[in-house]
Amino acid sequence: MHKLLEAGYDIRSTPTGYQLVSSPDALYPWEFPGREKYIHYYAEASSTMDIARDLARKGCPSFTVVIAGRQTNGRGRLKRIWLSDEGGLYFTVVIRPDIPLIMSSRVNFMVSVVLIKTLRGMFGVEAMVKWPNDILIGGRKISGMLSEMEAEGDFVSFINIGVGINVNNDPVQEEPTSTSLKRLIGRNVSRKEILGSFLNLFEKRIKEDNYDDVMLQWKENTITLNREVKIVTSSGEFHGTAIDIDDNGSLLLKQSDGCIKTVLFGDCFHVNGRD
Ligand code: BTN
Repeated sequence: MHKLLEAGYDIRSTPTGYQLVSSPDALYPWEFPGREKYIHYYAEASSTMDIARDLARKGCPSFTVVIAGRQTNGRGRLKRIWLSDEGGLYFTVVIRPDIPLIMSSRVNFMVSVVLIKTLRGMFGVEAMVKWPNDILIGGRKISGMLSEMEAEGDFVSFINIGVGINVNNDPVQEEPTSTSLKRLIGRNVSRKEILGSFLNLFEKRIKEDNYDDVMLQWKENTITLNREVKIVTSSGEFHGTAIDIDDNGSLLLKQSDGCIKTVLFGDCFHVNGRD
């Protein structure tokens, strides 16, 4: 009882027993009924990616989830930092899909589609995806994704999907092109409900084992295609019109000389727009 009170649960003693008056927006394992055994919650962690990698290498089951209340070394794509203050949602899901290596990137695109569905369904917001996997609302970034994978031969051993969502935190001072759900909705919202809904939808998709429609669904929800873009990669900058993505998620860029360039990864900037 003491532990629950300390953790922020408001519990009153009544003549007929104890009554739970209110619970905090906590991400403890017992807040995810049916998933308790697979949830690893840390009030503070360096990065959920590091903990998830250790667990995955030790053979943890698919849909093991590592959650941090805040991260001291949150990692973003392309070796950037992911600001991870209290109030945001930071987690890594370990999955073990039975797919060949060549199809692994489709899981990332599936996660983007599922995140969009979750945020739209819960809050009615116009969430869209910017290539490859940034989720934006009103042109501002609300969520980012980082994935790490290991394989055995030609097949995936595990894919760790790390997701950061700006929920009740406010990174706008440091990241002017970002936003948070609290800013957009005008009140604190429940992180555990977002994570619970996301995990249910994502697990259902993985169990369906159908990767055929993923790219099409991503295309229906993107703001990158048919736009002028600048792509920054480690080997240089490329400009052109984003005309399509291929089955691996690479961006097809039509350059001013008419040549089509295939870009596997990089930072995407929409020209003539703040996103
Ligand atoms: C990006 O847009 O650059 C990707 C951001 C990914 C951030 C998440 S937060 C949970 C997980 N742990 C990390 O250190 N990074 C990912």
